Amino acid sequence: MSRTSSVAFVGKGGAGKSTIAGTFARLLARSGASVLAVDSDPMPGMPYALGIPIEEGVIPNDVVVAGPENGARWILDPALDVATVIDRCAAVGPDGVRYLQFGNLRGHISTLQRSQHAWSQVVREVDTGTWHLVGDLPGGTRQAMSGWAKYADTVLVVVEPTTKSLHSARRLLNLSTASWAPRAVSLVANKVVDDSDVRLIEERLGIEVVGVVPRDAGVLAGDRVALAPLDAAPRGGFVAAVQDLVDRVGGLQYGGAESPVEESPVEEVRG
Ligand SMILES: Nc1ncnc2c1ncn2[C@@H]1O[C@H](COP(=O)(O)OP(=O)(O)OP(=O)(O)O)[C@@H](O)[C@H]1O
Ligand SMILES: [Mg+2]
Repeated sequence: MSRTSSVAFVGKGGAGKSTIAGTFARLLARSGASVLAVDSDPMPGMPYALGIPIEEGVIPNDVVVAGPENGARWILDPALDVATVIDRCAAVGPDGVRYLQFGNLRGHISTLQRSQHAWSQVVREVDTGTWHLVGDLPGGTRQAMSGWAKYADTVLVVVEPTTKSLHSARRLLNLSTASWAPRAVSLVANKVVDDSDVRLIEERLGIEVVGVVPRDAGVLAGDRVALAPLDAAPRGGFVAAVQDLVDRVGGLQYGGAESPVEESPVEEVRG
C-alpha cells in the first residue's frame, strides 16, 4: 500500500513546536495533501497556529466505549470506523486541515483517559494511504521518549539557540536509537537571529540543521491578538522558512513503506 509521510514536532517548552507544526500543516494542505493535525499536548498550542478555536477537535466521550477484558481500557465504538470518527470529530480548519486533540486539560489528567485512548487509536489505525499526519507534542522529553511520536516517519526536534533548549534537544536526538526509531530525527533551528545562532546549534549538537526559522516579529505580533502566523505575517521570514521545511520533509518521498506504529502508547505514559 502506498502511504503518505508523517512528521512530529518535539522540543523544549516554548521552542516553537506548535507554531511551526500548525503552519507546516496548513502549508502542506495547500500543496494538495490531506492533512490530519494530531495534538497530544493537554495544553494545546497548535490550534492558535492553525487558526482553529481552542476547544475544537476533542474526541467526545460518546464515541468511546469500555474495551474488552485484557485489552485497552477504552476503545472507539466498534460500530464506527476510524474514518467516520475523523469525519465526525476532527475540527475543520483553514486550508482544509483537520485537527484532533486528545482533550483540553481542564480537570485532572485522569479525566482525559477516554479521549487519550481514542486519540491513540485514531493515530494508530488512521489510513496512512490518505492522511499526512502532522503531530505536536508537549514540551520536554517525557512524552516523546515514551513513544507518543511513533506515528511519525520524521521527528523534527525544534531548538532555540539557548542552553536549556540545546540540552533538551540533545536528549531528544536519542530518539534515533529508540526501538521504534523513525526514519529520520532532524533538527530545526528556531528564533534564529543570525548565522552565529545556527553555528552554535550545529557545533553543540554535532549535526546539521534541516531547517532554519528566523525570529519573526510578525509572528509575535500575531500571537498577541491570537492570529496564526499564516494570517498575521504570511509574507514574513517565518512562513517562508516553514514552507522550505515542508518542501524538504513534507512530501510523498516515503511511498511504499509500512507504518511504524504497532501499539498504543497510552499505557506507557500513565501516571
Ligand atoms: N520564529 C519565531 N519568531 C517569533 N516568535 C516565535 C517564533 N517561533 C515561535 N514564536 C513564539 O514563541 C512562543 C512559543 O511558541 P510555541 O507555543 O509554538 O512553543 P512550543 O514549543 O509549542 O511551547 P510548549 O512546549 O509550551 O507547547 C509563542 O509566543 C510564539 O508566537
Ligand atoms: Mg506547544
